[in-house]
Amino acid sequence: MSNPSLLILPGDGIGPEVMAEVRKVIDWFGAKRDMAFDVSEDLVGGCAYDAHGTPLTDETMAKAQEVDAVLLGAVGGPKYDTLDFSVKPERGLLRLRKEMDLYANLRPAQCFDALADFSSLKKDVVAGLDIMIIRELTSGVYFGEPRGVFKEGNERVGINTQRYTESEIARVARSAFELARKRGNKVCSMEKANVMESGVLWRDVVQEIHDAEYPDVELSHMYADAGAMQLTRWPKQFDVIVTDNLFGDLLSDLAAMLTGSLGMLPSASLGAPMANGRPKALYEPVHGSAPDIAGTGKANPIACILSFAMALRYSFDKGDEATRLEEAVNAVLADGLRTADLLGEDGVQPVSTAEMGDAIVAKLDASL
Ligand code: IPM
Ligand code: MG
Repeated sequence: MSNPSLLILPGDGIGPEVMAEVRKVIDWFGAKRDMAFDVSEDLVGGCAYDAHGTPLTDETMAKAQEVDAVLLGAVGGPKYDTLDFSVKPERGLLRLRKEMDLYANLRPAQCFDALADFSSLKKDVVAGLDIMIIRELTSGVYFGEPRGVFKEGNERVGINTQRYTESEIARVARSAFELARKRGNKVCSMEKANVMESGVLWRDVVQEIHDAEYPDVELSHMYADAGAMQLTRWPKQFDVIVTDNLFGDLLSDLAAMLTGSLGMLPSASLGAPMANGRPKALYEPVHGSAPDIAGTGKANPIACILSFAMALRYSFDKGDEATRLEEAVNAVLADGLRTADLLGEDGVQPVSTAEMGDAIVAKLDASL
């Protein structure tokens, strides 16, 4: 059998630096665990625009459709702020999500024991926190038509459309219930059914799928604004949260920051199974391209490394090896190693991006 294939798209800003550390980890699994991957690399985002005049070429898109998993760094930067909307770096990422039909975006918000002091919330509110936000990723107001800025009389009007079909809601609800069964068996669905018809449909369909297929899972519903409030008040009440594209964008940033460590959090975007049974999949850190620190060795590679751990678990059925990698990350943090984003403790000198990657690889070695 041929090796599983990975397409790596480092992207812009700190993307290439953090991805270089992931490459070390990938190579380690190839050398020490007999898990070689066929890795290819390509451009996405601003760097693709610079090279080809588009944030994602058709060739790269086609490659992404063929591989077993895509690993992405980050896209965007101030240099591209004035570009036309259609060629902005973010459009490359949105095209990947849409054309690969990656409808379920898994965003864990986990508080690492060694970092519980970094949260803006009290330690007892966040210590041990482990929630999973499932954000619908291919529909809603991000993609709904009509959209645009139009002339209406003598002024302009900006329009975006929130639109969800029953089947779009049903499939992401199933992803949430399936995942909940492997965790705390609890799902909270968030929308604004009090003001949006699409929210009423969302709530109804999630409830129907629950009653028909997952009655064993505990289901609750919350308005998304109240959900934001509850997330900051007592986040440990949640296990899995399922919500739409825009609310999920906001709530996942909020949940990530609760853990005090945006530079630590990975994500997986999953679609339907391919012919080989693996889901269409793209893995990326939750953080952005951080252009202000790009090239300075200050970036934290952990979110991107943990995104590869998610790939091991969700694409390659290697949950044990994913756990090994997660434990290696925990171990370096327990040793007190901190990249510059995690400073705050007295007398701690930051390690560089590459030093953090090397330390994680050393812990992997020690795990054998
Ligand atoms: C995210 C980001 C993206 C989004 C941007 C970069 C298009 O904020 O992945 O959360 O809004 O989905
Ligand atoms: Mg976001």
